[in-house]
Amino acid sequence: MELEQTLTTRYSARKFLPRQVESDVMQKILELAQRTASWCNTQPWQLVITRGAATDRFRKAITAHVLSGAPQQPDFAFPERYEGAYRSRRVRCGVQLYESLGIAREDKAAAREQSLENFRLFGAPHVALLTTEAALGLWGGVDCGLYINSFMLAARSLGVGSIAQAALASYPDFVREYFGLPPNRKLVCGISFGYADEQHAINRYRTERAAVSDAVAFVD
Ligand SMILES: Cc1cc2nc3c(=O)[nH]c(=O)nc-3n(C[C@H](O)[C@H](O)[C@H](O)COP(=O)(O)O)c2cc1C
Repeated sequence: MELEQTLTTRYSARKFLPRQVESDVMQKILELAQRTASWCNTQPWQLVITRGAATDRFRKAITAHVLSGAPQQPDFAFPERYEGAYRSRRVRCGVQLYESLGIAREDKAAAREQSLENFRLFGAPHVALLTTEAALGLWGGVDCGLYINSFMLAARSLGVGSIAQAALASYPDFVREYFGLPPNRKLVCGISFGYADEQHAINRYRTERAAVSDAVAFVD
């Protein structure tokens, strides 16, 4: 796919077919994403990727952990509040999601059940847990952000759907213990991926973007 087509057709997939991603396709995604630029070429990203039965084991384990009422303790603090344009954009994409599923605003139980889908990995056959090196601080996180985008675009260009998930970064101690990761590896987010169920309503709406003029100021 051309870059323009890849960028304009990528979307966050939230329902997947059970089909595993072929190992040569997965390898190609990872090789392309590995070309991501980073500060001093430090390449701080490291991934644990589940395949086969390991994905189901992990989705069951983390869902049980969440349902046990475990506290959220992200390595990188989540925003405390969203105001102004950030708030309205956040609300808008939530409304689109819930409308696609026919969930009414006041139906908090259905919304909570849907948010649990994050931990069921939206039915994806794979999840990548992406970590950065603690000592590299914010900039390691920035490099990982670039990696996430490369990964999602590389996947899209090969017909594979994906979704970045900060939700999975709510429980880094659980993830580190589950996968035997050392304490210096800080959890940035998860990326669930696989072949998207393109017919499902949750995959059929597209989010909006502000105009370029809202984001860019030219100085001549
Ligand atoms: C770093 C990052 C974390 C995200 N975390 C979540 C998440 O936890 N759950 C979720 O449903 N979507 C998550 N998303 C998806 C965003 O909601 C989505 O990218 C945004 O609404 C724009 O929609 P699009 O990706 O379909 O273009 C995340 C996206 C990014 C980049």
